[in-house]
Order: sequence, then C-alpha cells, then structure tokens
Amino acid sequence: MNRAVDAFDRWIRTEFVALNTRVEEACLAAGRPLVRGDAELERLKQRMAQEGAELVRGIADDGRAALGGDRDTRYELLGSVGMYLAACRRHEIDGPQSAAWPLASALGTSLGVAPRFVFAHQALFNRAVGDRFRTFTTLDDERTFIVHNALSALAYQRTAAALRRVPALGASSPLTEYLLREAQAGLDDAMDFGTTLNKNLDVDRFFLNIRPYFKSYRVGAGEYRGANAGDFAAINAIDVLLGLCSAHDPFYQAVLTEKQPYLPPEDQAALRATVLAEPLLDAFLREAAQSAVTPQLRENIGLFLALCNRHGAVSSYHHHRLVLPFLQEPAARAADDEPEDLTSSGPPLDVVIAQLARLVDLRTARERAGVFGARSKLDRLRALAGL
Ligand code: HEM
Repeated sequence: MNRAVDAFDRWIRTEFVALNTRVEEACLAAGRPLVRGDAELERLKQRMAQEGAELVRGIADDGRAALGGDRDTRYELLGSVGMYLAACRRHEIDGPQSAAWPLASALGTSLGVAPRFVFAHQALFNRAVGDRFRTFTTLDDERTFIVHNALSALAYQRTAAALRRVPALGASSPLTEYLLREAQAGLDDAMDFGTTLNKNLDVDRFFLNIRPYFKSYRVGAGEYRGANAGDFAAINAIDVLLGLCSAHDPFYQAVLTEKQPYLPPEDQAALRATVLAEPLLDAFLREAAQSAVTPQLRENIGLFLALCNRHGAVSSYHHHRLVLPFLQEPAARAADDEPEDLTSSGPPLDVVIAQLARLVDLRTARERAGVFGARSKLDRLRALAGL
C-alpha cells in the first residue's frame, strides 16, 4: 500500500466507523432510518463526508500508485471507497463524495467489476486487523449479520467445490459418494448459519442500522444497484450442477447476467463456467436408464436426491425466515419509507420478493405450468433407482 491508501484504510477502520455508529445510535433511538434536522447529527455526517473526500483526493493525486497494486489490493481499496460512498448514500449526503467517483471508476474498470462496494468486499475480501474487519458500525448486530452471511457463502462454496469434481468421476464412483456427502455437509452448515442469524439478529437493528447501507448508489454518470448476499458464483454453480436451475431458462439467464459485474473477478469466470456444465441430474438419469442400477449408483442417487432436497430447504429458509421477517414485515410497518427504497437491487420490494420466490420454487423443484423445473426428472430418477 502507499501512504495515502494506508491513511484511508486507517480512517475507514477507526474514525469513519466511530462517526457512523454515533449516527446509527441516534436513528435507533428515534426509531427511524433517517433523522433529519438535528444540528449535531448533521455536523457528524458532514464531517464524515468531508474527511473521506479529502483522504480519497490524496489517493487520487497519486493515482498510478493506487492502481499499481495487485488485484486483491485494488479490490480491497474499491471496497473501502465503496463503503464510504454507501455511507454517504445511506445518510443522503450530497456533494463531497463525488470526489471519490473517479477513483472508484478507475478501480472498477481495472478489475472488470461494478465500481462500487459489493457483498464480497464485506464477506470474503475483508482483511481483519487486530481482530476487527471493516464494518460500517461497531454494533454487534452488524458483526453478526456479516459473519453469518460470510460463513454461509463459505459453506456454499464448499458444496460447489465438491460438486464441480463429480463430472470427472462419474455418477457411480465411490469417490462421488464422498463428494456428495461433502456437498451435503456444506449445505447443512449453510442452514445452521442461517438459523443462527435468524435467532441472533435483531429485526429493528437490521432494518434501521444495517439494511440502509445496501442501497443502490451513484458513481459518476451511473447508478449501481445495491449489495446483496447472493453476489457470489457458488450458489449458481450449485443450482446448475444439481440441475434444479438451467442456464438455458430465460428467467434464470437474466439472474446470471444481471449479477456478473457485482461478483469478484475470479467468481465471474466461475459463473461463466456454470453455463457449460452438464447437470448432474442428467448424468445420473443417463446412467440409471442405460443398465441395471448397481448398489453404488443407487447409494449415490439417494445422496444426490437428498442434496437437492437440502438445497431447496436452505433456499426456502432464506425466503421465509430471513427475507420476510427481516425485510418485508418491517417494511410493511414503516409507513414513512418508500417501498422503492427498501431493496438492494432497485426494483420495488414486491418485485424482488416475487423473483426470490421463483428461485425458491426452482430449488424446491415445485411444479409450475409451462416453465423450467426439475420435478419430473427428479421423480423419474427416484423411480429408476427404486427409492
Ligand atoms: C437478515 C438476513 C437476510 C436478508 C434480509 C436477506 C435478504 C435478501 C434480499 C432482499 C435479496 C434480494 C436482493 C435484491 O435483489 O434486492 C437477497 C438475495 C440473496 N440472498 Fe439474502 N438475505 C439475508 C441473508 C442471507 C444469507 C445468510 C445468505 C446466504 C449466503 C443469503 C443469500 C442470498 C442469495 C444467494 C441471494 C440471491 C438470490 C438467490 O440466488 O436466491 N442471504 N437476500
């Protein structure tokens, strides 16, 4: 790192987080996502915006040094600049933060990603220093939220890594049995982390002090949709490798295309690879239909079907025990907040909820007339294996 980048990193980890926490405590005390007209709070917000702008200007003055770092260093810096911009957006500050737009744009272009803070900056590329990683506040709930989101993503990555190795081994290999059990363990962990999050996260804290940092914001001439915990490739690799979703289904294609710029660089390649993968469901069906189902193939088919079930259950849990209670229900109670402003992706909340519900239907293989779904293939496989 150079000195200007170092100074900004230090500020993000110290003064920024302290100023922001004071503003968030005031929002919680008022029971509102935004408190306007309080002179002391306005002073704190302006101080944060000005200090950040000044430090970013220091980096931009020596632009080549900032852009000369390796890919991970540039990605980390984009995350910090993005956190500053997200906080200005959250507090509806207009003005000083435009000083950070050229640097964010240059970093985004050099990396081939959207020029903003995304989920991966918080979850998977967030270097801890002295036990603390970068956060918007020092509130326990934000830490709980980030840790459990990140752990779930790691668990999904574990499942995806195991599934990616199955095609080279084949449906009836004893090694495939091991990989399917490993994949199941990843999804079991994802379910456990989601359940812990549901138990430990305070609904009001999430709604008032955490969710507002995930909104869309502007960088230069562009408006970039907000961060969401789905912006990593492993979830889609699992969908497509299992055969529960298809990269040839127009609905799902749109999901893949839309998220591409919000993924970290190496995840973009992983996402592209999912389009070429043969679904394991098809591979199992082919082998089961060709000849008598052997004991190992039957064992593997049983594990595979259980895995599909589990993937559906984790997705359904996300929808019914995280999205609805932590977002939809408090949104319905918050009379003074515009529904357009509640999601991270930009579309109104009911549109986002409908899209998420459709993903749950795909992952649980729920039949829908006239659209892609894996139910009939799964039933055929079960019947062929005599399960
Ligand atoms: C309080 C906790 C959570 C809430 C309120 C929540 C809410 C949401 C919302 C509203 C979206 C849609 C984003 C948009 O387009 O605006 C979303 C997407 C997504 N979230 Fe969460 N989420 C939570 C936790 C998690 C966790 C722990 C995970 C696990 C990694 C997760 C995984 C995903 C995925 C994969 C997507 C993309 C859509 C999909 O493929 O299903 N979320 N979430």
